[in-house]
Amino acid sequence: MKLSILLTALATAIALPASAEESVKIGVILPMSGPFANYGKQIENGIRLYMKQQGDKVAGKKIELLLRDDTGPAPEVTKRHAQELIVKDKVDILAGFGLTPNGLAAAPLATEAKKPMIIMNAATSIITTKSPYIARLSFTLPQVTAPMATWAAKNGIRKVYTLVSDYGPGHDAEGQFKKTFSAAGGQIVGEVRVPLKSPDFSPYLQRIKDSQPEAVFIFLPAGEQGVAFMKGFVERGLDKAGIKLIATGDVTDDDVIEAMGDSALGVITSHHYSAAHDSALNKAFVKGYAEIDAKMRPNFMAVAGYDGMAAIYGALKKTNGSTDGDKIMAALKGMKLDSPRGPIMIDPETRDIVQNVYIRRVQKVDGKLYNVEFDKLEAVKDPGK
Ligand code: PHB
Repeated sequence: MKLSILLTALATAIALPASAEESVKIGVILPMSGPFANYGKQIENGIRLYMKQQGDKVAGKKIELLLRDDTGPAPEVTKRHAQELIVKDKVDILAGFGLTPNGLAAAPLATEAKKPMIIMNAATSIITTKSPYIARLSFTLPQVTAPMATWAAKNGIRKVYTLVSDYGPGHDAEGQFKKTFSAAGGQIVGEVRVPLKSPDFSPYLQRIKDSQPEAVFIFLPAGEQGVAFMKGFVERGLDKAGIKLIATGDVTDDDVIEAMGDSALGVITSHHYSAAHDSALNKAFVKGYAEIDAKMRPNFMAVAGYDGMAAIYGALKKTNGSTDGDKIMAALKGMKLDSPRGPIMIDPETRDIVQNVYIRRVQKVDGKLYNVEFDKLEAVKDPGK
């Protein structure tokens, strides 16, 4: 009698989770509409390319994506989606996060539910410190900014004006640029923060021109803002006044670089990915991406979506398909991957990405504008921690 009850209980216990465990559910939260919709499209395409190449099964389980639109910088919307994905849809992993405020909003939920949270763009340094369940496969602003400041100082630039977007990533870029550039003997002659939403650059551009710096260093979130800045830079004659433009690669992003036109030629930036990166893996990535979406060129967000999936697949292989949050995190720590951007590693201490940072110049390749890499710093850790 007792044995039969035990056996029935055991059978139910095995049967229920077994059917539920056939799939691994990944809740992906991204901006799919509004002014940042391209972030979502790029990351989604990167995710889909990885799944197309590797199949949708790993460690015997089917990978299931549940995609939600956060509409742009909207922490409340992100929080609601994360909550529903965890409680109602019972996802095993959270992923995506195009913008810093949204990543920060979801962090406490990941901690509470012990769900791994894979960051595929949001790049403010502090994000990974907000939950032990976060791992980042994108980059951090201090990580890409420090090499730009070093390059500027080494190449005879002494006086710089900084202009950044007034939120987490901009503050990180401004702080790191000042720190590294000043330590190398450079001087900051002015600084300004512009609103995240639809900034009008004209008054700032005039002020920058009047203060006669040798260069202006900028961080703006990837997209139309960079195009608008570049247009104003030329219209107001900053280029003719001999002022150089240096930036993180967000500004000359592969997604918008063609829209900048020839005025972008010669701009120097530092970043971790260019569609022009010269490797066999990247050539295959760019080719595969075109088959997913012929209208777009992959940018740094697409590669983070792709690598984010590679990390999830790699972790599930190591855990033999277990989706236990602590086991997945243990598998992610110290993980090394060959990415289309070059070798990458998840720092076992910070769960942040360690990667090469490249110095690039905007040039024409086969008649199209690209960020052509000409120098690199290897295995750069986030200096913001
Ligand atoms: C961010 O919100 O963290 C962010 C957005 C766009 C970028 C970089 C960082 O280009």
